[in-house]
Amino acid sequence: MFPRSNAPAAGVVDAPATGLLSTRRLTWKIGEVAIVDHVSIDLAEGEFLAVIGPNGAGKTSLFNLISGLRKPTDGSVTLAGQDVTRLAPHRRARRGLGRTFQSSSVFGSLTVEQNVRLAVQARRGGSIRPFPLPGSDKDIAERAARVLWRVGLDHRARTMAGTLAHGEKRKLEIALLLAGEPKVLLLDEPMAGVSAEDVPGLVALIKTLTRDERRSVLMVEHHMDVVLDLADRVAVMHHGALLICDTPEVVMADRTVQEAYLGEKL
Ligand SMILES: Nc1ncnc2c1ncn2[C@@H]1O[C@H](COP(=O)(O)OP(=O)(O)O)[C@@H](O)[C@H]1O
Ligand SMILES: [Mg+2]
Repeated sequence: MFPRSNAPAAGVVDAPATGLLSTRRLTWKIGEVAIVDHVSIDLAEGEFLAVIGPNGAGKTSLFNLISGLRKPTDGSVTLAGQDVTRLAPHRRARRGLGRTFQSSSVFGSLTVEQNVRLAVQARRGGSIRPFPLPGSDKDIAERAARVLWRVGLDHRARTMAGTLAHGEKRKLEIALLLAGEPKVLLLDEPMAGVSAEDVPGLVALIKTLTRDERRSVLMVEHHMDVVLDLADRVAVMHHGALLICDTPEVVMADRTVQEAYLGEKL
């Protein structure tokens, strides 16, 4: 049987939060049901950690707790040594935490460039000002252009975002994320809906964005070939709990993991 709860025995002291991002006993209950159940993970600086698990395991819910979209019923989230458990999502973003959403967060009726400009502006704390600060528009435009070039969408700057192909839309979502200049990236199924021929390009992009710039990444992904290509370590969730978090080799060889996926393709 799988452990139904990761609850530590009374008196057990949490290990110190050593990661750039750490969770300790992070828990989200709806009534008596633990959707996320005492999850403790550490993401090191420059590390790529993949989160896998059957549908409904609580992966997106874990991301919601880490990004602040949901309030945990127990446990903590630490970012660069600071407890952020009670901070609103935008304040966590200011501290370097960026996420993409499983469903698209792109404004379809704006151009690609306008979408990225808005994201840059949000990062700079710019709301709509009656008198723009001198030079700030130019800064925003330059930053937006750099981000678009970085993800390979510079040739699409004036295209309406709603008309982009799936693969390009994913790139735009990554551009919106980069506009926030995050240190830690939360990617929730970045390959979802992307056609098979676009997957390698997107994987290569994620690889350069993270390895070259030593960003830390937590990524939920179903495609095991993508996980094995990108991840330093793999965390497996099942019924809200963390079954194991180890190197891909150890995780793939683990009996409990194979049983958790019984009937599903791993
Ligand atoms: N807002 C909510 N209200 C009730 N149940 C929810 C809510 N969000 C998620 N759940 C349930 O929590 C479980 C985990 O969901 P989710 O985190 O989306 O899993 P995953 O991303 O691993 O597929 C599912 O059974 C889902 O139905
Ligand atoms: Mg999900």
